[in-house]
Amino acid sequence: MKALVLSGGAGTRLRPITHTSAKQLVPVANKPVLFYGLEAIADAGITEVGVIVGDTAEEIQEAVGDGSRFGVKVTYIPQEKPLGLAHAVIIAREFLGEDDFVMYLGDNFIVGGITGLVDAFRTERPDAQILLTKVPNPTSFGVAELDGEGRVVGLEEKPENPKSDLALVGVYLFTPAVHEAVRAIQPSGRGELEITHAIQWLIDQQRDVRSTTISGYWKDTGNVTDMLEVNRSVLESVEAVNEGTVDESSEIIGRVRIEAGAEISRSRIIGPAVIGAGTVISDAYVGPFTSVSEGCRIEDSEIEYSIVLRGSSITGVRRVEASLIGRDVEVTPAPRNPSAHRLVLGDHSKVQISS
Ligand code: DAU
Repeated sequence: MKALVLSGGAGTRLRPITHTSAKQLVPVANKPVLFYGLEAIADAGITEVGVIVGDTAEEIQEAVGDGSRFGVKVTYIPQEKPLGLAHAVIIAREFLGEDDFVMYLGDNFIVGGITGLVDAFRTERPDAQILLTKVPNPTSFGVAELDGEGRVVGLEEKPENPKSDLALVGVYLFTPAVHEAVRAIQPSGRGELEITHAIQWLIDQQRDVRSTTISGYWKDTGNVTDMLEVNRSVLESVEAVNEGTVDESSEIIGRVRIEAGAEISRSRIIGPAVIGAGTVISDAYVGPFTSVSEGCRIEDSEIEYSIVLRGSSITGVRRVEASLIGRDVEVTPAPRNPSAHRLVLGDHSKVQISS
């Protein structure tokens, strides 16, 4: 079995994270969302991975490399334009050959991986296996309609009037039957060859299309509340590791991953939390569900349930909560006199000040 990972698409400025224009590289607990997908694929015992790349090919290739760090062999498949998920299957035809494959959208996050699904598919081999999840906003997804026995009877792409709240998750398992389907369909209203339509074609041909409904699904919508929540759910399973240094007057409570070269002094960290490589934490409190990336400084401050990206510093500030702090950001107290907030905020920033 092979994997086809979709990391193409147009490079657009993402919000609130703007350091990457590839949405597959948005970090979750200090790691790009795409890496979780590649790890899940490797865990399921798949080693041959085709990665579709588009405008952001360079960024993706720099991050993923040849795949050896994930234990897989990556073949990059350039897609000239984002012409649709089914188009990606067409251009991957040679790579896929006559093998079954899992198609994984690189910006989707599945809590708990895909090993069980892949194992079941290997034994049962329906023509296609889709994953569904309940969402509050089905109009932004492919939507499935099931009959009384849970069989898929119809699929629609981003319908105005959805027939259910069951969205198609971006992980699909296919036999080579899909190759005929992707060639049989026409571009949709948005000009893309939709995989949703290819699967509907299989249903219309009475092929065996099965669905499994899952929970624990996330994709970035630029919403900070959602990012904090997915960060929390990943930290739930973080393991305690100390590759840095912790002085005697510091206290590490619960599961905290301290990455290489991080220095903790006179501080208290309550897990689950991750402290990135080379980060310095001194005279500080870091509370549960906090991810601090590499090369940060948290000094004389308190922070909890937050995400801090690479190279940022928080000095003399209490207390930061439910916050997303981008790269190379500095947060410090303002001089006491005059008593005023002094802000240098990028476009579309949001600040809540307690005063
Ligand atoms: O995320 C789940 C949803 O993904 C499904 O519910 C929809 O049925 C499905 O059509 C898809 O919808 P989106 O409009 O959200 O897909 P998006 O254009 O964001 O592309 C998904 C991923 O695939 C993303 O990582 C970019 C990549 N991609 C996309 C296109 C259109 C490619 O590599 N090539 C492409 O041509």
